[in-house]
Amino acid sequence: MAAGKGTRMQSDKPKVLQILGHLPLAGHALAAARAVEARKVVVVTGHGAAHVEAAMAALAGSMPLEFARQEPQLGTGHAVQTAAPCIADDALVLVLSGDVPLIRAATLQGLLDLSAGRHLALLTVQLPDPSGYGRIVRQSGSVKAIVEHKDASAQERNIQEIYGGILAAPAGLLKAWLGRLDNHNAQHEYYLTDVVKLAVADGVQVLAHCIEDALEVAGVNSAAQLATLERAYQLRQAHALMDQGVRLKDPARIDVRGSLVCGRDVEIDVGCVFEGQVVLGKDVRIGPYCVVANCSIEAGAVIAAFTHIDGESQGVRVGAAARVGPFARLRPGADLGADVHIGNFVEVKNARMAQGAKANHLAYLGDATVGARVNFGAGSITANYDGANKHLTVIEDDVHVGSNCVLVAPITLGAGGTIGGGSTITKSTPIGALTVARGKQVSIANWERPVKGAKK
Ligand code: UD1
Ligand code: CA
Repeated sequence: MAAGKGTRMQSDKPKVLQILGHLPLAGHALAAARAVEARKVVVVTGHGAAHVEAAMAALAGSMPLEFARQEPQLGTGHAVQTAAPCIADDALVLVLSGDVPLIRAATLQGLLDLSAGRHLALLTVQLPDPSGYGRIVRQSGSVKAIVEHKDASAQERNIQEIYGGILAAPAGLLKAWLGRLDNHNAQHEYYLTDVVKLAVADGVQVLAHCIEDALEVAGVNSAAQLATLERAYQLRQAHALMDQGVRLKDPARIDVRGSLVCGRDVEIDVGCVFEGQVVLGKDVRIGPYCVVANCSIEAGAVIAAFTHIDGESQGVRVGAAARVGPFARLRPGADLGADVHIGNFVEVKNARMAQGAKANHLAYLGDATVGARVNFGAGSITANYDGANKHLTVIEDDVHVGSNCVLVAPITLGAGGTIGGGSTITKSTPIGALTVARGKQVSIANWERPVKGAKK
């Protein structure tokens, strides 16, 4: 169910498209459906339907997906009724809410198992403050009804077991119940929760799967709740990493927005954000406050504080035992070999650096191939862009580029050569030579400096 408006979010974006981790809220429900191997997913859309449908289609991958538009939105029972024509009579239906992102696959599997293709199974939880939720009404232990908060008597409002908004039921039975719903209630809505009474009347067993962790059924209605669930989601991921042996300085200060795969003995300091697909090899260390996105960092490499890495769709590779940062920036296509050193305020884009190459301070390497053991001096840059096109700089093995050089591409610096500091190099340079391209130094003796206010 993803048709609701989400007025309290105070946002132009449909609520179910608000982002938690790296996915829209409804994307988490979709992932849960994938995890229990749903035969197909039917998404009920209404508010912002075109946007919601486009986002879900992009996330579904190979999973069969259909949309049912609910216009107008007459309640959760009506929402599921809208989806009914898309559902085969022999199906087992699992109803999920698009704004409940932290539900676990194992919990859903438990609910499906409880339904066993025959019973109506409800996800419930005990809440110290159940206000607002549908209450589970039991008689000598058996579930008899769900009463919505607005329809509940004072006595019913004392019930702490609530309906978590997720149920499983055989499609044939569910469809028959949906056809018998009415809207004779406080909100004049067709309540999905009224199927419980109908099941009881039909002699179908209603079973409650009562879980411990209320966060699993927590919904998002406001920016504050979204932030609360974001922290819970991140903490859950942090614990999953620690369970694998990853050493986090503080599980409350890491954000993983995508997939983070770690080898043994990885250490991650505080304040780091991981995005997209990131792979960290054995013994990798990530210093404090790094952004690490779409890259692979090989065994023993060290990323020092405040480094920004994002390979976007191209990727970034940091070779074994390389050292990057503090304050370094690796952009798409940066491919660092083993033992490469990239220091502070160095930017690398679409550049391959062979084993042991170093750029330790204030440099730009863009569209370049850099040989083994090259030393690229402070303040030096590849001038890769002529205003219209990008050109390649080739620096062969063992070249030493002094400080503050401009290498105007396309250009090749021959192996073992030295480029004198302050040179602007516009032609390729020979192997083994010292090349200097700058004004000769001149001194003028007894030079008198101009004096302020002096007349000519
Ligand atoms: C619902 C349950 C309540 C339960 C609570 C748990 C009903 C009648 N009540 O209440 O028992 O305790 O969830 O969170 O089901 N939606 C549609 N179309 C509609 C109405 C809603 O698609 O016409 C979607 C919403 O976008 C949302 C979900 O259904 O994703 C739940 O709707 P919401 O209005 O939030 O139900 P609650 O009042 O929270
Ligand atoms: Ca809700």
